[in-house]
Order: sequence, then structure tokens, then C-alpha cells
Amino acid sequence: MARRTVVGLDIGTSGVRAAELRHGRGGRTLERFGQVGLPVGAVHDGEVVDVEAVAAALRELWTQARFTTRRVVVGVANQKVVVRQVDLPLLPAKELRASLSFQVSDYIPMPVEQAILDYHPLEELTDENGNRTLRVLLVAAARDMVGSLLQAVEAAQLQPAMVDLTSFAVLRSQVPATAGLSVTAEALVDVGASVTNIVVHCGGVPRFVRILLMGGDDITAAVADRLGVSAEQAEDLKLFTGLSPADAEAEHPAGRAIASTGGAFVEEVRSTLNYYASQPGAPRIGRVVLSGGGSLLTGLAERLSDATRLPVELGRPMSGLRMGRTGLTDEQLAVVEPLITVPVGLALGMAS
Ligand SMILES: Nc1ncnc2c1ncn2[C@@H]1O[C@H](COP(=O)(O)OP(=O)(O)OP(=O)(O)O)[C@@H](O)[C@H]1O
Ligand SMILES: [Mg+2]
Repeated sequence: MARRTVVGLDIGTSGVRAAELRHGRGGRTLERFGQVGLPVGAVHDGEVVDVEAVAAALRELWTQARFTTRRVVVGVANQKVVVRQVDLPLLPAKELRASLSFQVSDYIPMPVEQAILDYHPLEELTDENGNRTLRVLLVAAARDMVGSLLQAVEAAQLQPAMVDLTSFAVLRSQVPATAGLSVTAEALVDVGASVTNIVVHCGGVPRFVRILLMGGDDITAAVADRLGVSAEQAEDLKLFTGLSPADAEAEHPAGRAIASTGGAFVEEVRSTLNYYASQPGAPRIGRVVLSGGGSLLTGLAERLSDATRLPVELGRPMSGLRMGRTGLTDEQLAVVEPLITVPVGLALGMAS
């Protein structure tokens, strides 16, 4: 019998989060959700550094949230995983997989024998010499980085069924599987504490992925640094002050620190989307959809909208899900919605 229940597990800088989904005839039900904070430094720039601290948080999470399975889909997003659009010779899938490491060694910034490789087919093309090629999104992840992630998961007695790119999870969560063909692209931007996942898709098919090592904690760090306050005080100041519009002079020193770091962040996202748009044949982006804790920064959506001249909206990853007995009130669910995007999307990757 196909197993219909799976937990999507997001190991982030600020904490571990998981969502249990049940795939049934009537659709997908969110059965449970939980999160447990991590000590500073346990996950750094999206990589598991302190295996034991992460495993301890995972054990705590399983005790608290009472998931009914230990089978998990885990996400990765850091500098040791890269996604590139590459044209490969059109071969039967089996042959292409077998020769992948040989085909792609020139395209990835790491020794191919130290990488775990995967690809998503995009389209078949014929090049100028009449050769048929397959355009793919190539994913290459450093073996050692995935190794420490799995070590933490296994040390908590969990069974990793699949490791997936966090960006693809964001895509699944924000775009219903029923999404029709589209000529306009959409940019999904998940802003975390220190990692931001950007994926541009057209009708649900990913066209472009970038993982930026930037996020909400850069802003907190700037406030702490410029005002000489603790990280906790800086976090409070950030939440209270928010990001002011580009043309407004911030009055408070915290406001100025947020304005310069937040402005740099907005600029990085804008230039990433411009880079995407400069690729030949890239479908035009029609709107931006935000998720992740960092997207809650007051004023961020407006600034991003001004900079990109695109409508910017907050994602609704729960809109396509039925709600089970999560133990959370509607109010609590609304608060966690931006954070549920990744774990739900990971669980959706194992839809049976
Ligand atoms: N209401 C809020 N306003 C502004 N920022 C917020 C708010 N809530 C959370 N944040 C910020 O969101 C960030 C954490 O986001 P999130 O929980 O998505 O990150 P993470 O998944 O733990 O980390 P990462 O994905 O970077 O590894 C922190 O920088 C935090 O300050
Ligand atoms: Mg995250």
C-alpha cells in the first residue's frame, strides 16, 4: 500500500520546522505542524554545522508535534548547491543519467566526483548544427554538505526519503499542481534568516533558481552593530521600525541601519531578476510572491515592488490545503503561514 503520509522537514538557520501532509482522495490535508528553535551557529548559511544540536532540536520537534511518521523529505539551500540551466545532448533518460557527471563537469563549480547531481528537463531544442539537445535545470549539491544534513536527520532516528532543493519546495507550495500553461513568469522569493531562495517559474515549470546568502538576520546584525545593542534588542527594533520607503529619510538610527541593509537586499533581488530577464527567450515576469519569515519585514514588499516595478504579494501556501486537527488556532495558522511554505512544499514532493 502506498504510504500517504509524509513530513516535509525544513532545517533553517533560526530553527527546524516540519509539516505532516496526508495525501487523500479529497486532496491534501495539513495534519500537523511544529517548529523548534536552534542555537545560534548550529546551522550557518544554510549548512548544518553542529550535527548534535540539530539532532537534539529534531528529537524535541518530534516529541512536541506528535507526527505520525518518521519518514521525511528534507530541503537544502546553501552555497554548496547550485542550479544552472544547461543544454545536454538529447539521449534516452537512462543514458543521460548514466553519463550526467561526464556531461556536466564544465558547468559546475565543484569537482564532479564530490557532487550529487540531478536535473529537471525543461524543453527539447535543435542547435545551429541541427543537433537535438535537452535544456535542463541542473542541480549539483556537494556530497559532504548533504552528508552532515543527513547525519543530523538520522541521529534523530528519522528516515530521509528524499533530499530536495528548498527552491523547488517553495515552487510546489506556491503554485497549485493544476496551474495551467502561462506565458508570463512569476518570481517566488522566500526570505529566510540568512538564505533567500529565488525561483522564477512559468506555469509551474522552474526556469531559473538562485540561492542568495542574504536574509532578515543581516538587517538585525546591522542594527546591533550600528547601535551597539544585543541581537535580541536589535531584533525588536527591526520588527518595530520596519523598512521605510526609498525616498523617506529614516529618523531613527535603527531606521537608517535597516534602510541601508534592507535597501541592499532589495537591490540584490532586483538585479537577480534582471539577470534572469536578460537571458534570451526568458518569459517576462508578471509578479513577485514572497514567503519566509524575512518577508514579514514591514515595508519590504512595497520597496521590492517600487524597485522591480512589479506587483509584490504575500504567498498563500495553505490556500490549497485542507486543515486537519493541527492543534493550532486559525490565528496561529495565519501567523505561521509564511513559514510553512517550505515544509509543506517538501512534503508535496512525495505526493503519492
Ligand atoms: N514580523 C517580522 N518582521 C520582520 N522580520 C521577521 C518577522 N518575523 C520573522 N522575521 C525575520 O525572519 C527571519 C527568519 O526567517 P525564517 O524563519 O524563514 O528563516 P530560517 O528558515 O530559519 O532561516 P534560513 O532559511 O535563512 O536558513 C529572521 O531574520 C527574523 O528576524
Ligand atoms: Mg528558511
